[in-house]
Amino acid sequence: MSAPPTILVFDSGLGGLTVLREIVRTRPDAHYVYVADDAFFPYGHHGEEEIIARVVPLVGELIARHSPALVVIACNTASTLVMSHLRSAYSVPFVGTVPAIKPACASSKTKRVSVLGTKGTVKREYTKRLIDDFAQGCEVTLVGSAELASLAESALSGNDVRDEDIAAELAPCFVGNGEDRTDTVVLACTHYPLLLDRLTRLAPWPVDWIDPAPAIARRVSDLLGSPGRESDTAGAEMIFTSQRPHMLSQALMPFFGGRVPA
Ligand code: DGL
Repeated sequence: MSAPPTILVFDSGLGGLTVLREIVRTRPDAHYVYVADDAFFPYGHHGEEEIIARVVPLVGELIARHSPALVVIACNTASTLVMSHLRSAYSVPFVGTVPAIKPACASSKTKRVSVLGTKGTVKREYTKRLIDDFAQGCEVTLVGSAELASLAESALSGNDVRDEDIAAELAPCFVGNGEDRTDTVVLACTHYPLLLDRLTRLAPWPVDWIDPAPAIARRVSDLLGSPGRESDTAGAEMIFTSQRPHMLSQALMPFFGGRVPA
């Protein structure tokens, strides 16, 4: 029996688990290595050159160590910068995570869309280009959040996170009134779906939240080709670059489809 393909999923922290969860559902036949670069978290607080200089060699080392069939950069703050660098440096197929502006603008009825991401992601040329190319007549509001990724990490680690702190980060997404108000919010940071229940509850009015994870999972599956048989050796590993042991197994297991990450 041939070994299952390894899929390496990379983020600055625990946000990429929201992408991993969808990929594992789509491809239970694969082996997963999840890498959280927590030693450098949060990426949203670093400059562009710093992120490129950090991520490109680090991903190279991870490829050498784990021989993945495919690498997913489950981080908008990194993907909006590093994908071309990674593709020219390494021959493994890569899938990135970038703000889902095109589907959001295509489905907005009021033509008012907000993009909620880290301060880095909303400043990127890449994001501005997506708006130029795909706004389709929508007014797009860019909202850079300094704290929401850290609040999501904290909540997932079992700490109390106050509603007021989440609501304050969310408020600038809600613009206009009546027929002309925001009806769609792009979750342009993989950490934010971790808080989806609370975002929905704290929103001043109902909106569609666009999470790109299912589309990313479909793309991964297409690149991987037809699924093999589920194998006994298809497990999961969790790596923190700070080398801290992971204390979150119970909380993490659902994201790994019930596997216990080593
Ligand atoms: N999860 C990351 C993203 O999608 C960013 C969080 C951070 O490190 O600032 O953008």
